[in-house]
Amino acid sequence: MNSERIKTLRLGLGLSQTKLAQVLGIAPGTVNKWEAGKTKISAKFVAALDKLEVAARRDAQVFPSANREVFRPIQYLGSKARLVSTVRTLIQGMASAGETVGDLFCGSGVVSHFLSGEHPIIAVDIQGYSEVLGVALLSGKQEHFENADSESFWNRYSELTSYLAAIYSPLLRYEEQALSAAKEGNYSALTAIVESGSLAANAQCPLHNRPRELVMAMEATLANVSTSNLLASSTTATNYFGGPYFSYWQTIGLDALYMTIAEQPRDIGASLKGVLLSVASEIVNTVGKQFAQPIKLIKADGGIQPLLLQRTLRDRNLNVEEVFRAWAKKWGNNSNPNDFSHQVIRGDVLSYLENPVDCKVYYADPPYTIDHYSRFYHVLETLVHRDEPSLDETVRLGQRRVMRGIYRAGRYQSPFCIPSAAAQAYASMFSRLAKKEASLLLSYSHFEEDEGHRPRLMSMVDLVNLAGKYFSHVELYEPDNHIHRKLNAASLNASSLENAEKFLICTH
Ligand SMILES: C[S@@+](CC[C@H](N)C(=O)[O-])C[C@H]1O[C@@H](n2cnc3c(N)ncnc32)[C@H](O)[C@@H]1O
Repeated sequence: MNSERIKTLRLGLGLSQTKLAQVLGIAPGTVNKWEAGKTKISAKFVAALDKLEVAARRDAQVFPSANREVFRPIQYLGSKARLVSTVRTLIQGMASAGETVGDLFCGSGVVSHFLSGEHPIIAVDIQGYSEVLGVALLSGKQEHFENADSESFWNRYSELTSYLAAIYSPLLRYEEQALSAAKEGNYSALTAIVESGSLAANAQCPLHNRPRELVMAMEATLANVSTSNLLASSTTATNYFGGPYFSYWQTIGLDALYMTIAEQPRDIGASLKGVLLSVASEIVNTVGKQFAQPIKLIKADGGIQPLLLQRTLRDRNLNVEEVFRAWAKKWGNNSNPNDFSHQVIRGDVLSYLENPVDCKVYYADPPYTIDHYSRFYHVLETLVHRDEPSLDETVRLGQRRVMRGIYRAGRYQSPFCIPSAAAQAYASMFSRLAKKEASLLLSYSHFEEDEGHRPRLMSMVDLVNLAGKYFSHVELYEPDNHIHRKLNAASLNASSLENAEKFLICTH
């Protein structure tokens, strides 16, 4: 067996040189020497490698769904969509197929979904939208998503849309005129909708500088709402985010869809709620499709931003029904064919790790900067909770007002994002995993100063040193260079370490 063949085989098995050496029970440097052609592999180890390859092929037959596509249900900052194959390869070196794997900080669920073809998954995240995505990704079946093709589903949707449209008609008329005027070059009404069109924000702190016609349209709408039987929780999207983030027409579509979905049998509804979040993520009218800030159409000098205006007109024209149908197909095509029993847990990772759980291998992708995900995705969170949160306020030009982002008050603040708490949070995570004798694959996202990315709260060097206190082996993997290094603090060159995606493989 030549050196190239050993390397191909090893990579095919998803093993690092060190891990393969461990599996074969030989000194860590031996595999490196074989691959570099420095020493010859003996017949005994050729036979052992052949055995490993046969076992891997058998697993691939047992788990045919393992070779799945990467499915990205929402646009998500810090999504590991680009790295899922690497995560899978590294996890394959830590857990055999069929063994449960924990996805801590599962976020958009893209990693859980990718791994779920060959492992039962325990997905954990503090956010409600993450739970909705996780349930739909891990337990959604093709036939659930096919319901989005049924005539009765869309008949009910049309009925509800018409009902809501009648109630919100004064605002819908105002919006129609604003959009036509913007196409003709008069964008002041459209700007007013984006800047101050949220009914919930105005209910909390009325804005005095709204155009009179918008105030009247809002008042007439509220009068209609008060004489209807509508529950506030039925129209969360329209009341909170219609105007700043979406057109009113679109939020009426989102609310009508939500109500239609709520009437479906439980498992179908749980799957279709995931599709709804994909739709919100696709149609939202923001730069980068996050939810931190509505679009800013007007420049500091009072002029319009022409490209943003174009984008606004395009985004607000997206048809909720069409987008939903297209996403339901994508979800169906990516649904999970196997019968593993997965778990999705909404909660704090550190509390979760205090429970006795039967899972020995974890992937963790914590946030690394001071930016709380709850700020970028609060809209999805409110759409999922459908509660009536009060909103964060600020004072501008002497006027109390709701913040532009329409953030729900009391958003979750992760200790992993707080400079004074991050080191302790990592230490608690490591110590709880070590207590369970569980292995950890930790993602460490890259930091590109040139691109204005935020600095990390923990340096790689500190993180490695900290992990070393709890795990007997800490190994670094750099996918860009395919470098594996066994670590100790002295071997770390701090500057070279801060520039690429990295993984720490922590084992006992
Ligand atoms: C880097 S993102 C994860 C991205 C994810 N791997 C993906 O591909 O979509 C970090 C996630 O950590 C979650 N989070 C932050 N602190 C948490 C905590 N203490 N417990 C649970 N989840 C937390 C955030 O809600 C966010 O979804």
